[in-house]
Amino acid sequence: MNQIDVSVREVGLRDGLQIQSAFMPTDMKIAWIEAEATAGVSEIEVTSFVPPKLIPQFADAEEVTRRALSVPGLTVVALIPNLKGAERGLALGVHKLNFVMSVSKTHNLKNVRRERQESVADFRRIVELIKAQPEHLRPRIVGGLSTALGCSFEGSVPVADVVKYALLLAEAGADELVLADTVGYADPAQVRTVFKAVMAEIGTLPIAAHFHDTRGIGLANVCAALDCGVHSFDASLAGLGGCPFAPGASGNIVMDDLCFMLDSMGLRTGIDLEKLLQVRKIVREALPNVEMQGALARAGLPRNYVCAEERRAV
Ligand code: COA
Ligand code: ZN
Repeated sequence: MNQIDVSVREVGLRDGLQIQSAFMPTDMKIAWIEAEATAGVSEIEVTSFVPPKLIPQFADAEEVTRRALSVPGLTVVALIPNLKGAERGLALGVHKLNFVMSVSKTHNLKNVRRERQESVADFRRIVELIKAQPEHLRPRIVGGLSTALGCSFEGSVPVADVVKYALLLAEAGADELVLADTVGYADPAQVRTVFKAVMAEIGTLPIAAHFHDTRGIGLANVCAALDCGVHSFDASLAGLGGCPFAPGASGNIVMDDLCFMLDSMGLRTGIDLEKLLQVRKIVREALPNVEMQGALARAGLPRNYVCAEERRAV
């Protein structure tokens, strides 16, 4: 396998699809996953273990997970909001569970119908459940903090609260944290402040950034996080995305544009850009009415483009 400098996780099949009223057929979801894996994407959040009554898009969560687990070399991730979600993931042997809670009180209540302390208690129970499994069957557990950079109910979110909940999840046994700008409120200066504050407290625990491009500065936020030493990012092909329980939420940063930017900066992602761009056709076919973002898809690769891997080899 090629060496990589920055890891990019596809979240479009979860974040991108959760706000689509049209159900994306299971076979198309699998086609998307397989095509991205072939393009070199090594980690994909393939679904969400939430009640199908709440989000019918994920009524096929079990089948999608099972089939994704047969894709060679792919790390299969699923979102979970509670213990029940963790049980569903464990039963299938998912590689990584992405637990979600919000730093802001109001969004946590609206999104997962719990006080924040109840979510932390849930997270502790999930870690206990994982630890009770034989070592080779334990998934990695991610502590995801939504609204870490702003909330469309409460506005600003205090940095001290982000640090507090990051530490609580870290102490509870998270293998990794993700700070999410759920509603696209962040700016690069704020990203530096918040990530530095959290990273100063959590030591060597891996941390990822999850940005939405609601106001057009998602990639600038990526650069700010890179400056802080973050090497792991979520993104969504064609910039699909948004939380159904947060007013004004819109798409994630565009996976294809993110990979192009990183690669142009000499940071290897292991992803073949031309193959990645081809995957957009699957999304277009499956969701003909969806708005697809992407500057690279519009403009094409520059004439003088040489990928980072090849430039290193010269
Ligand atoms: N998967 C499937 N079913 C689940 C479930 C899960 N993860 N969690 C709960 N349920 C079922 C329960 O078994 C129960 O079923 P029943 O009515 O047949 O007895 C029902 O759902 C209600 O369970 P309860 O624990 O009371 O849940 P709730 O109504 O308080 O909702 C959440 C809490 C967390 C399940 C819900 O708010 C949720 O899924 N939120 C996630 C929202 C989301 O995906 N946001 C976008 C991503 S950030
Ligand atoms: Zn998101």
